[in-house]
Amino acid sequence: MKTLLFVFGTRPEAIKTAPVILKAQQDPRYKVLVCSTGQHREMIRPLFDFFGIKPDFDLDLMRPGQSLTDISTGVMSGLNKILLENNVDAVVVQGDTTSGFIGSLVAFYHKIAVVHIEAGLRSGDILSPYPEEFNRKGTALVANVHFAPTDTARDNLLREHHAAEDIYVTGNTGIDALFEVKRKISTTPEMQDAIAGRYAFLNPKRKMILVTVHRRESFGTPMEEVMKGLLDLSRREDVELLIPLHMNPQVRASAAKIFGSQAQWVDKDSFINPENKIWLCEPVDYVPFIYLMDRAHMIITDSGGVQEEAPSLGKPILVAREKTERPEAIVAGTSKLIPLEQRRFLKLATEILDSADLYNSMSQAKNPFGDGRASERILDILQMTLRNEDMVTTPEPPVRSPIEPYDSQHLHI
Ligand code: UD1
Ligand code: UDP
Repeated sequence: MKTLLFVFGTRPEAIKTAPVILKAQQDPRYKVLVCSTGQHREMIRPLFDFFGIKPDFDLDLMRPGQSLTDISTGVMSGLNKILLENNVDAVVVQGDTTSGFIGSLVAFYHKIAVVHIEAGLRSGDILSPYPEEFNRKGTALVANVHFAPTDTARDNLLREHHAAEDIYVTGNTGIDALFEVKRKISTTPEMQDAIAGRYAFLNPKRKMILVTVHRRESFGTPMEEVMKGLLDLSRREDVELLIPLHMNPQVRASAAKIFGSQAQWVDKDSFINPENKIWLCEPVDYVPFIYLMDRAHMIITDSGGVQEEAPSLGKPILVAREKTERPEAIVAGTSKLIPLEQRRFLKLATEILDSADLYNSMSQAKNPFGDGRASERILDILQMTLRNEDMVTTPEPPVRSPIEPYDSQHLHI
């Protein structure tokens, strides 16, 4: 039996790691330990409840307005102690957060095998997304096994000269979670009714546009330009915007500055003004969020996970970022990068709303990110690779040679 220690701390990591943890817990080949770094406190708690996961270790490091250094030092010292006191065969990390990257680094310092789920995503710009592009490249350097969600991600790793035999294409575990939630919603009408009841304030005669923004590299002017574009968009009679606000204080400050009294904050006890066109709310729990994505006419986001989920639901997505590491949805025709500039953003959003042909072509359900079976593939492959007692816990360093630059510019409209 091999002991896997899952290390993560943010909302998207919890969603994408949960299907693997739940399957591994049922699998006699594995003993599962879970370390929540606490990078996100409020946003992760409902996910543990929903998936029924109880962390064995909680580093509880979240601080309001925390810096990247605060997160890093907290994960380092907390995880170091855990690895000193427990026998672990492999540390499993997901994606590109600072919890995941530092988790992999500490495992490397302990010469414990590192398993990287959602490996190989690249924007080609170390500053965008910041610091995630660095985090995922750094994790790849110390990973022994790379689980790439798509062929594109595998190719990115090969271009960086990671060994082909350590890379496996599995699909994205986020799609496993999404399929499970969709199944739960469709087979539990009372759940669907309860969620729908919470959003009864939405006007069925208007097209609901769901919006999320939170990227660090967009803080300040770029994010505010998009928000100004959203404010313009909300003046159309046929739309209304629902914006679950990330808990980051910088996001909230920009929303307050740009939307001001033009937006209404909704919670359980709010008085609802039916004339209102911009609704702000706390981050939405995962299941209702999937319901809202499904109900939306269009989604505007800078989120990574939402870019992967929306194509499965047949929703056009406008990606509020300079670059994306998820070109698959752009190639599939379901998403577009949008300019982070008020007027250009408004022009594109308006075109999609006004052109039935463009809208229909973007709303075809083409999901390039997985088939819902990534977790079981990961566990089977892991058993094979971890069984090999000769597995070098220190990965081969990539061969140094000039690497062709990535070109995500051609993805711009
Ligand atoms: C982090 C990840 C990012 C991921 C995002 C998902 C890094 C560097 N960034 O960014 O890759 O896309 O999570 O959401 O790892 N806060 C709370 N309660 C919470 C969560 C956050 O109050 O439950 C507030 C705190 O003030 C916190 C701030 O949000 O300091 C920022 O959270 P943090 O994890 O530092 O960065 P994110 O921008 O969320
Ligand atoms: N999500 C959620 N509630 C929200 C916004 C997003 O449950 O209010 C889910 C979404 O379905 C996706 C994940 O959170 O699975 C994405 O997380 P986030 O956008 O915070 O991070 P990213 O994917 O950009 O790293």
